[in-house]
Amino acid sequence: MNHIDARRQLLRYLASSPLFAALPSISLAQSYDVLRAQTKKIGDIIDSPEDALDVFDFEPAARKALPPAHYGYLATGVDGDATLRANSEDYAKVRIKASRLIDARKIDTRMHLFGLEYASPIFLSPVSSQGAFHADAEIAVARAARKKGMHMILSTVGNSAIADVSKEHGSPVWLQLYPTDDWGVTMALIRKAEAAGTPALVLTVDRQGGRNTQTLFRLRRNDDRTCIACHGGGFANEVSRKPMFQGVDVSKVTNLYGTGMTWEFVNKLRNSTKMKILLKGIMTAEDAEKAVRAGVDGIIVSNHGGRAEESLQSTISALPAVVKAVDGKVPVLVDGGVRRGTDVYKALALGATAVGIGRPYCWGLAAFGQPGVEAVLSILQREFETIMRQAGPTSLKQITAASVISGLQA
Ligand SMILES: Cc1cc2nc3c(=O)[nH]c(=O)nc-3n(C[C@H](O)[C@H](O)[C@H](O)COP(=O)(O)O)c2cc1C
Repeated sequence: MNHIDARRQLLRYLASSPLFAALPSISLAQSYDVLRAQTKKIGDIIDSPEDALDVFDFEPAARKALPPAHYGYLATGVDGDATLRANSEDYAKVRIKASRLIDARKIDTRMHLFGLEYASPIFLSPVSSQGAFHADAEIAVARAARKKGMHMILSTVGNSAIADVSKEHGSPVWLQLYPTDDWGVTMALIRKAEAAGTPALVLTVDRQGGRNTQTLFRLRRNDDRTCIACHGGGFANEVSRKPMFQGVDVSKVTNLYGTGMTWEFVNKLRNSTKMKILLKGIMTAEDAEKAVRAGVDGIIVSNHGGRAEESLQSTISALPAVVKAVDGKVPVLVDGGVRRGTDVYKALALGATAVGIGRPYCWGLAAFGQPGVEAVLSILQREFETIMRQAGPTSLKQITAASVISGLQA
């Protein structure tokens, strides 16, 4: 075998091996080695995770793999999806300052949160009903997150039990909480989480119930399957089949989202568990101040991926004011519209401790199961490491407000 053949074989081996995922620095896509690899025709839609050049490549593959209604559920924002788009587009308003002549051959992307260490500041935001995307659902996602050393949050309405997800993740995941409108159910969910060793509860505060998910409604029209087998009417049919509600008396629950929660509820929750409590869905400095006063342990700046209200306010534009209001008292996390390693970098520069993704990993899951999720996480991590090297910071704490020029308006 000559030198070039041997090199090709090595490249092909790396591309198909789990090693490729585990070693973000080895990257065919970002190396001229790709020019020496064997040519391979790839259609408009990738049919293998190794063929993806960026996370966007997974979206059409997910669309192809899913029934229209399930893809619609994943894709949709609300009204005209303008807030969903703003989440991503506003990242272009932040520019990165590149410093030169820094030895960035070794970089450290470890993130520390509540005394635990993760390999990356990228985490997996809670996404409901992942069984609609792939039979392996949250289990596949947990295994992929474990391989990458990334943190993850399980949705109350996930399709997998929290104990199983934590086991596959290798360490306890956090539980996102939809408390319902029955305190008895809230307490049952809390006790289940505690029994599973869950260190933190993430109370989602940005869903009031009833939303105009128009993209879903439109795509649903192209789906001629019978949906009522899985989507019966009423709370009991729709949600109580989910593992978090198993063995819980849900007979008094009328609503998962429109529960009438106020700051009083946050106080009550605070006094009901020793788990850490984070609020997910905070978008203003005023609410951030109230949250800190209410004694929460962390805040996630989020607009539910543009699926709550059509506010046109992106999460990256809301982040700086929240960070300022919180003033270092608790960690501030952010999600929404993160599609590139440079987005992760910008969010960290504007004060986030960790940066969440929702749809991208679900595209990977829908298209290819666990290897798809792994590839999405690898690509984002690789891109993030690339921009760190190029711009100069060699550890997360060196990524500061001085690392970017922001054209964002709050
Ligand atoms: C299909 C789907 C389901 C979601 N389910 C939940 C959920 O159960 N609980 C929650 O707090 N957020 C939920 N979210 C919001 C995500 O946690 C996250 O805030 C959002 O997806 C981030 O935006 P991105 O998708 O642009 O990355 C969901 C998002 C999607 C796309």
